[in-house]
Amino acid sequence: MEDFLPLNGTDHVEFIVGNAKQTAHYYKTAFGFQDLAYAGLETGVKDRTSYVLQQDKIRLVITSPMGPDSPLHEHLRAHGDGVKNIALWVDDARKSWKETTQRGAVSAFEPYELSDENGTAVLAGIKTYGDTVHVFVERKNYQGAFLPGYRPLSREFQPSDTGLMYIDHMVGNVGWGEMNIWTEFYAKVMGFNQIISFDDKDISTEYTALMSKVMSNGNGRVKFPINEPAKGRKKSQIEEYIDFYGGAGVQHIAVATDNIVETVTALKSRGVEFLYVPVSYYNDILDRVGPIEEDIEPLKELGILIDRDDEGYLLQLFTKPVMDRPTVFFEIIQRRGAKSFGKGNFKALFEAIEREQENRGTL
Ligand code: FE2
Repeated sequence: MEDFLPLNGTDHVEFIVGNAKQTAHYYKTAFGFQDLAYAGLETGVKDRTSYVLQQDKIRLVITSPMGPDSPLHEHLRAHGDGVKNIALWVDDARKSWKETTQRGAVSAFEPYELSDENGTAVLAGIKTYGDTVHVFVERKNYQGAFLPGYRPLSREFQPSDTGLMYIDHMVGNVGWGEMNIWTEFYAKVMGFNQIISFDDKDISTEYTALMSKVMSNGNGRVKFPINEPAKGRKKSQIEEYIDFYGGAGVQHIAVATDNIVETVTALKSRGVEFLYVPVSYYNDILDRVGPIEEDIEPLKELGILIDRDDEGYLLQLFTKPVMDRPTVFFEIIQRRGAKSFGKGNFKALFEAIEREQENRGTL
């Protein structure tokens, strides 16, 4: 069957934050992103400021409202700093919008052209879970740094990168009973396939639980796991997220590296905070996952987790939330053949998250 929504990959991720200038500085300093483009007063934009940052194929747009009337204030009030737009790179934004709205997507905005001296881009948007929007970005007739309306930005301060290469997957948290609504949305409206499903027996500890299904587009470049809280003796981390985010939203962005030891060493030295599992995790790790190419000592020192599936293994580690509210965090992942998501690590990880919840008084 022909893919009615061919996606080239993730175009960019746009955060709405309270102070774009300082948040951009954080992603540069701590994560090793570099300046790419800017929109704000100096470019004739009066109601917001946006910094566009890049590291290899990953582009982040960090936006703050300006002036009292910007509708972005509502997003900030409801959610705190968070992800508003998951933009997808397409060859035909008008067709992408038409195909998806015909199948039941709610339009966020109709297709429109943006032009400057570097050409023309076409943008369109559909709504997904919570206040999150998928923006279709058609840039085949655009040669500028980012998009029309942005000017290239390259400031003197450009910290070195940390080896982050591309977005591996982006996870959405949705409310009670909503997981199937949204996996159906991705299946019917966007033509995605469900590739993995975890129930609360797979993902539970003594205290808390969640359910998850992983949706992937046809060529596998875009993967969206969807999480829903499940009943346990204490509060699910997904429910904690929903409480603090004020509804459904992006929970984590998994970014790939081809050298997780170097990447995590760099991130740690630059102040990124990670979740840690007890050292006992490593006692029988090689019995569980079999031989791996990396030395176990540096992995243990950095707290990097290992899991294996039929096709290979993966190494992964999760940051603590990068917002004031316990909401959005990052995952660093290195795949060595494995196409899965670290099921073998769920229990150890969720116990680590429970310890954080306990500290926050939200367990
Ligand atoms: Fe993940």
